[in-house]
Amino acid sequence: MIELKGITKTYFLGGQQVEALSSVDLRIEKGEFVSIMGPSGSGKSTLMNIIGCLDRPTGGAYMLNGIRVEEMDDNGLAAVRNRNIGFVFQSFNLLARQTALENVELPLLYAGVEGTARIAAEALREVGLLNRMGHRPNELSGGQRQRVAIARAIVMKPPIILCDEPTGNLDSRTGREVMELFKDLHVKGSTLVVVTHDNEIAAHSERVITLKDGKVLSGSA
Ligand SMILES: Nc1ncnc2c1ncn2[C@@H]1O[C@H](COP(=O)(O)OP(=O)(O)O)[C@@H](O)[C@H]1O
Ligand SMILES: [Mg+2]
Repeated sequence: MIELKGITKTYFLGGQQVEALSSVDLRIEKGEFVSIMGPSGSGKSTLMNIIGCLDRPTGGAYMLNGIRVEEMDDNGLAAVRNRNIGFVFQSFNLLARQTALENVELPLLYAGVEGTARIAAEALREVGLLNRMGHRPNELSGGQRQRVAIARAIVMKPPIILCDEPTGNLDSRTGREVMELFKDLHVKGSTLVVVTHDNEIAAHSERVITLKDGKVLSGSA
């Protein structure tokens, strides 16, 4: 469902050129649980942003669910992203003034879905946080914030969930809670791609893709 061929990403910054990804070939099938590992600066976030249609490659071809996305304009990318991808970030990226329920409702509001509160509450129930739906992020623990972010990522029922160092800001016990949620999502059929330094997450995934200096060292297919 995710197929990258010869994907390159070059950043141009102040006259300098950084090749963040070079000739990346990668296939991820529907329902797989894959982790991506590699040192800082190896291109993991760049790769996730391209897979997640947040950014376009400089070169190469990207097929997502049979659609060629590398040449789409911003509106096209946004449409593909909204239908296919849920994101979870290291820093949670929740809106501070909004309650857990309101944060989870946001993607539904953008999509013009009816009955947002009921659907968002159901997603919070799935992550075990129904009893915290009226709390704002600063009234929640780190692990709970990340579970709200996961509820927000799954509320539109995207087939693919991308997580960029989701346990990077969590202690190991809380990280394990998040890990359990990923296992649930995997069992329910989601395709999960998780960038992580956490060996426990990597051990629970079905395949580890290793990046170094913008190249895939192992696990590409
Ligand atoms: N927006 C950007 N502009 C210029 N260089 C960038 C940008 N984003 C990332 N890079 C560079 O691309 C390389 C890969 O970065 P990144 O994908 O964030 O790595 P990782 O997530 O593995 O730490 C790094 O050398 C980084 O400095
Ligand atoms: Mg990164």
